[in-house]
Amino acid sequence: MFFKKKVTERNLPTHIAIIMDGNGRWAKKRGLPRSAGHVAGAKTFKTIARYCNKIGIKYLTVYAFSTENWKRPQKEVDGIMNLLRDYLKDAENFKGENIRLKFIGNLEPLADDIKELIVKDEADSADATGLTVNIAINYGGRDEITNAVKKIVQSGIKAEDITEDTISSHLYTSDMPDPDFIIRPSGEYRLSNYLIWQSAYAEYWFSDVLWPDFLPKHLEQALDDYNKRNRRFGGV
Ligand code: IPE
Ligand code: IPE
Ligand code: MG
Repeated sequence: MFFKKKVTERNLPTHIAIIMDGNGRWAKKRGLPRSAGHVAGAKTFKTIARYCNKIGIKYLTVYAFSTENWKRPQKEVDGIMNLLRDYLKDAENFKGENIRLKFIGNLEPLADDIKELIVKDEADSADATGLTVNIAINYGGRDEITNAVKKIVQSGIKAEDITEDTISSHLYTSDMPDPDFIIRPSGEYRLSNYLIWQSAYAEYWFSDVLWPDFLPKHLEQALDDYNKRNRRFGGV
């Protein structure tokens, strides 16, 4: 009995991944431009990241812009990039929060000033020991795997030496555990090219709440559900 886990003790995921979806519909419902939805969504992101840090989550990976999102009107893309800029400039103000910032995705096509801010913010927060926030920008799971294969071939690794670990270690997420829990709000039931390799054994949670309306209480509902899941990883 001495070793028995207290029933009240919650089994929290180490790594939560969120598809921050529904900003456009949130704005439309209010007769606002889509850009207003992205502004609201960015606020939600900050609230949820702080909350994850507070309750002791180690990794939070958020989908902010996909490799497919370039298809959107230029004005919308510019608006999202400006929000990213503001966030990166503002990161100074979160220094006391012990949050480590990281970016995943193909950052090459981003504007030079954004890339410089990313390098600076990652370096400035590198020693934080609380939550690691990974922001996925120009991220696509297929693009990531394609790039990994290119890097593996270029490095001259022999085909017979390639293992699952070889692939994992060439992904943007090489230095973190796979997501345990993937949350998608906004009533869509798909991954949209998110973490497709890493999510092989993740638990999923869907909700009709639009991302700008997503509150810590919704995350709590999700975590309560996660706590009841029985992850078997193919075993019994
Ligand atoms: C998610 O919200 C944000 C991005 C994809 C950048 P959407 O903009 O996709 O919102 P909906 O899905 O159109 O409501
Ligand atoms: C996924 O949402 C990408 C992000 C949230 C950044 P989308 O709105 O782009 O996905 P689809 O088009 O509904 O699949
Ligand atoms: Mg969407």
